[in-house]
Amino acid sequence: MSAKRETILSGIRPTGRLHYGNYFGAVRHFLRLQEEDKATCYYFIADYHALTTVTDRQDLYGNTVEMLRTYVACGLDPRKSVIYRQSDLPCTAELSLLLGMITNIGLLERGTTYKDKLSKLREDPKAEGNPLSYGLLGYPVLMAADILIVKADIVPVGEDQRQHLEMAIDLATRFNSRFGETFHVPRPISRDALRLPGLDGASKMGKSDHNTLDLLDDPATVLKKIKAVPTTTEPAPLDTDSNDADTVVPKMPSGVGVLYRLLDLLAPREVFLEFLEEYRRGGKFYGNLKKAAAEHCSKFNEPIIARYNDPANSAAAVEEFLRENARRVTPVALETVEAVRAAMGIGHSLYRA
Ligand code: TYM
Repeated sequence: MSAKRETILSGIRPTGRLHYGNYFGAVRHFLRLQEEDKATCYYFIADYHALTTVTDRQDLYGNTVEMLRTYVACGLDPRKSVIYRQSDLPCTAELSLLLGMITNIGLLERGTTYKDKLSKLREDPKAEGNPLSYGLLGYPVLMAADILIVKADIVPVGEDQRQHLEMAIDLATRFNSRFGETFHVPRPISRDALRLPGLDGASKMGKSDHNTLDLLDDPATVLKKIKAVPTTTEPAPLDTDSNDADTVVPKMPSGVGVLYRLLDLLAPREVFLEFLEEYRRGGKFYGNLKKAAAEHCSKFNEPIIARYNDPANSAAAVEEFLRENARRVTPVALETVEAVRAAMGIGHSLYRA
């Protein structure tokens, strides 16, 4: 008997261009799972979530289409995976509302994104930017709705999303014990979840920190960004014989660690090992290290940029598959929402009948 086909779901906010953190934390797993073809894959663009950082007027729709063209350029295939836009599945908002009714506010107040924003505002109450909104506080509830609505088993995300996934598991479990088995409970974050540091040496690469390397950066931009990585510190002793990136990178000065992490992800193993030997020998090798890292990054970006600009990968083509894939995901999602409505006692929706 063949094993049950599992369900994978993940999303990315349309905050602009895809960066290496998004790719190595999430998209490369989307690709692997798509190609393994053992599961039904749902990959979406989280445009509702992006509204927590909305500015006066931004082209969220345009950003969404650009992100989807980048998805396709990376190798995601709308015929193999169900690729859709969050807001094309408005019943997610209904599920989020229903889940919100059983969500303890204390749980949300412990959310790291919310706490970070709160502490920034406490430091500088007049800080420019977005308010501490109801939407930001409720971000994990909407994310739980995304996950639970398609009955996901596996949620491939970067390490920074660990807490959000735990909250979704917690909500589903709590709902089931209160209203009866309704939700399929997803598995916790995988062991290989990554947190890619920023080019400035900060612990995380992120768009709002302006420390990203982007998939669509051309060779000149890549070189300029990598040259600016802070490497003024002398190599710190590694005090280990291990050649494993996960062991050695955290022992390096942070900027230098980013360069080694990039080599680990992109260059042949022998290149990583050669530079690791250089590190152990000491001396001046940072210039060569930066050159090598930049070359490997540009080589990685080249085919992605070419596929991004391929005339077949047009905004019109994206719109067509969005329409089609919204139709593929909707029945699955409605089935969940109807079950939740029934479990909570409001009964079936008449307008959908
Ligand atoms: P977003 O857009 O912030 O991040 C998208 C994905 O990229 C990963 N990521 C990283 N991974 C490693 N190192 C980094 N420096 C790095 N920066 C970003 C994130 O972990 C994520 O996997 N809240 C989600 C969007 C979302 C979602 C969902 C995801 C909304 N609903 C349901 C999964 C399931 C987010 O963080 O997007």
